[in-house]
Formats: sequence, structure tokens, C-alpha cells
Amino acid sequence: MSNLAKEISKRRTFGIIAHPDAGKTTLTEKLLLFGGAINTAGAVKSNKIDTATKSDWMEIEKQRGISVATSVMGFEYKGMKINLLDTPGHQDFAEDTYRTLTAVDSVVMVIDCVKGVEQQTEKLMEVCRMRNTPVICFINKVDREGQDPYDLIDEIEEKLNIKVCPLTWPIGMGKTFKGVYNLYTKNLLLFQPSKKKLSGEGVEIKDLASPVLDKNVGDTLANQLREDAELIGGVYPELNVQDYLDGKVAPVFFGSAVNSFGVKEMLDTFINIAPEPRERATEERTIKPNESTFSGFVFKIHANMDPKHRNRIAFVRICSGTFQRGSSYLNVRHDKKFRFSNATAFMAQDKETIDEAFPGDIVGLYDTGNLKIGDTLSEGEKGLYKGIPSFSPEIFREVINKDAMKTKQLEKGLSQLMDEGVAQLFSFEMGARKAVGVVGNLQFEVIQHRLKNEYGASCDFAPMNLFKACWISSKDKKKLDEFVKSKFRHIARDKDGKLVFMAETKAWLQMVQDNFPDIEFHFTSEF
Ligand code: G4P
Repeated sequence: MSNLAKEISKRRTFGIIAHPDAGKTTLTEKLLLFGGAINTAGAVKSNKIDTATKSDWMEIEKQRGISVATSVMGFEYKGMKINLLDTPGHQDFAEDTYRTLTAVDSVVMVIDCVKGVEQQTEKLMEVCRMRNTPVICFINKVDREGQDPYDLIDEIEEKLNIKVCPLTWPIGMGKTFKGVYNLYTKNLLLFQPSKKKLSGEGVEIKDLASPVLDKNVGDTLANQLREDAELIGGVYPELNVQDYLDGKVAPVFFGSAVNSFGVKEMLDTFINIAPEPRERATEERTIKPNESTFSGFVFKIHANMDPKHRNRIAFVRICSGTFQRGSSYLNVRHDKKFRFSNATAFMAQDKETIDEAFPGDIVGLYDTGNLKIGDTLSEGEKGLYKGIPSFSPEIFREVINKDAMKTKQLEKGLSQLMDEGVAQLFSFEMGARKAVGVVGNLQFEVIQHRLKNEYGASCDFAPMNLFKACWISSKDKKKLDEFVKSKFRHIARDKDGKLVFMAETKAWLQMVQDNFPDIEFHFTSEF
């Protein structure tokens, strides 16, 4: 096996998704503890933005600092190099999360057993489904009185539209919680609440009829487990790893992250079944990770927190070949080569300079404004990587320039913030109106603050009566031209110059869709 192939086979790049408060930060921390990347609990900071402090600017800036430090956490476990990509939990930053999901090969989804499947999880799962990303489910907080485990897995199947395959099963829940039984390895893990200690090896129970089970969990729960195991065995077929890899079946684990319980079971299965870096499509062809020439794409840009230095860190997911620090790579969009002498790798909480990196790895490149989200870097490849779409935002406001002397600064600032993916800008074809679209209101504050501090520009945001921005296309160019003409007042261009129809209401959009059957309306920029 070549060195490159060896490095690829060792890598597992994944993200954890969860509704805020389900336990993503806690689970992340426990995974890092198992990987030996950190020594103490409490070392991973939550990147949660508290709604109570959301207008407090220092707080948000602090959060941005934390989120850069914990954006990518690399650690080793049983000979594997694992890259964990953090996803912001706050729904106002959902777009950032969607994009991060384009850079992972699989995800772990955390669900709170008390609350079940929550709204944010449903949305994130939709994004995973777009790329058939393999998903492992961790049902957390089983030390609390949660919902019935059968109800929980039914809810996952229904709301998240994916088949499940339970690999561990809880024995009791809340006060009566005794542990989990691994249906796969036939191992019983007894619960010992401990925030510090990592759970141990457990008791092997090859035959559930064994009295050892009763001795450990009591007759009632032992009998319940026997029934459950039989029922599950009948209803859920054994895990077919290919179905998991195709995103059709999600293995399910039960545990308690805060008690480090059930986490190792999941991690051990994860490294056995989670996919190594896979091939990816560009506009021109599919590129395999073991191709010798380097390629990768930018999925996240983080601005420097110090306004005096406007450099930024671009996060690049490596897709093929070997990244070498100091080499020049082609920025496909500009068709121009850039040299990257300053590259950073992320190991747990530290950033360190690296000389080479391999497919699956994320490198941070210092950039002064040449890179934007979705850019492809390569050693000659001309096609852009696909699959980093923009999603139609939910809230729109019109940008009102408050200082005519600073128009240039405002334009530059807006354009750079859009490159970073803070929000989306739509420029109307008629007049000079510009609409900013965001997922959550918090972004308007972020934009205003940063425009002022980093670019010296001031703007206001006026409410706009808009429901959705839909990218439009048609097989029939003439029909598309006619449509644009007839709806000119509602036509805008996105940052890449693509045509967008700005629909005012849901009902009206529906009507327009019915009246123009030759026009396709898309809710993401890639179709
Ligand atoms: P998030 O990143 O998904 O938003 O969630 P986070 O890990 O911050 O966890 C949210 C809360 O849930 C935390 O409590 C955390 O301690 C708790 N938690 C996580 N896992 C478990 C578990 O297995 N069982 C129980 N009972 N609780 C769990 P908090 O009160 O918000 O913070 P803290 O003061 O405990 O740190």
C-alpha cells in the first residue's frame, strides 16, 4: 500500500449534529478524552450562544474565538486519525453547520432521550440526506427519565426518514437505569455514574438466559431485557454496513455522555464502520482520494478577530493527494496560482503549523481575501468541487447605506462578509436595491457590527416583505428570458450572478410556479 493510501485508510472525518442542549459539547469532550487528546473534563468549551446574551457583542466575539479554536479537533484512537468537525448549535448559524456537513464523511447525531427528535435535528438531517451521509445515532441522557426507547427509535424513523438499527439497548431508564446491553457483542455494561472516569469493559453475557444477568440488574429488568432483545432481533435485521454507508440505516446507541457511559461502545463501532475519505465530484469528473495530485475545497472562512489585521482563516477539506505547505496551488475560480506558506492543522484544542496533510484532513490557510466559500484549490484540476450549495435564507432585509461617503467600504465589506458566508446578498435587477438574506436575526447584528468595526461603513436594515429566494432555471432559454422579463421587479442575482426569483409570499410563489410550468424553482443554489 502506498503511503498516501495508508494515510487515507486511517482517516475518519465526521461531525456531530444535535439540537442545542442535547449534549454535543459533552459528547465531543468525552470522545477527546477517549482519544487522549485532552486530560480533563471541562476542557472543551461550548460554542453555544446564549440567547440571553445574544446582543452582547463581547460575548459573541468571544464565542467566535472559541469556535475557531474548536472548529476542528483531530485526535487518534486505536491507530485511526479522527477529525471531528464542530458545528454551531445555535440555529441562527445553521448555514455554517450546513456547510460544515459538506466537509465530513459521516455524522453522529445526538438526541436527548427526554425531548426526542427536535426541530433543529430534523433540519440538519435533511442536509445529510442530500448527500446520503452515513449517520450514527447517540440517544443521550438515559440517566434521566426519558421517553420509552421504542417510541424514540420510532420517532427517529418517522421524523428523520431513516431506518434504524439499535446496537445497544438501555436497561431501565432514569432512576432505574442499570446500564446498556450491546446486542452486537453481547456485552453488558453496568452503569456507574461518574463524570470523570471513562466506563470500563463490562460483563460478557453470551446467553441472555444466564443468571449472571439477573444478578447484575435484578429479575424484573433482566426479564424485560430478554423480551426486548427478542423483539428487537425480530423487528430490526442485523446491521448491514453497506446500508449504513449508503445513508439508509442509522445504527443507534444509548448512553449518557456526561457520565461517559455508552460512549466507548459508539466510538469503537464508529472506527469499525465509519467511511474513510470518499471520492467526490467536481463539475468535470469524480476525483478519488488516492489520486496523487492535491485537491480540496474551502467550506468555512473565519475572519480574524482583530479588526486591524483583516486576514482570515480559510478551512480547506482535503479531497485528494497530499497537501504540502509552501506549495503553490491553483484557485480554480480565479484560474490563478497562490502560494500557501502558512498552513495550520487542528489537533484537539491546539493549532499547529503542519507541513503535509492528507485526504480527510482539514487545514487552515491564512488568506487576505482571495478565497471564498466553495472555492476549489488544486494542483491543476480545473473543475470546481460540487456540493457546497447556498440554502434559501429565511429572513430578508434591505441594506440602507447610512454614510454615502463610505459607499465603497460598505460594498467591499458586504462582499467580503458574504464570501465568508455570514449571509447572502441578492442584488435586484431593477434599481440598486440589495437584499441580505439570513437564517437568523442574529446575523444582522453580526454584519452591522463587523461592517462598522472592520470596514468603517454603517448601514441599516429595513424590513422587506419577502418569503423566499428561489434560484431559477429552465431547459428552455426563451421561456426563462420571458419569465425574467415578466417578473423583472422580483428578479435578483446572487453573489455568483445566478438568477434568483424573490417571492413575496408562499401563496404567490405557488401561483407563479403553477403559471410557469417551464421554470424550475430551486431552494438551494446547486441543482
Ligand atoms: P450542546 O453542546 O448540545 O448544546 O449540549 P451540552 O453538551 O452543553 O449539554 C447540555 C446540558 O446537558 C449540560 O447541562 C450537560 O451537562 C447536560 N448533559 C449532557 N449529557 C448528559 C447526560 O448524559 N445526562 C444528563 N443528565 N445531562 C447531560 P448544563 O446544566 O447546561 O451544563 P453543566 O452545568 O452541566 O455544564
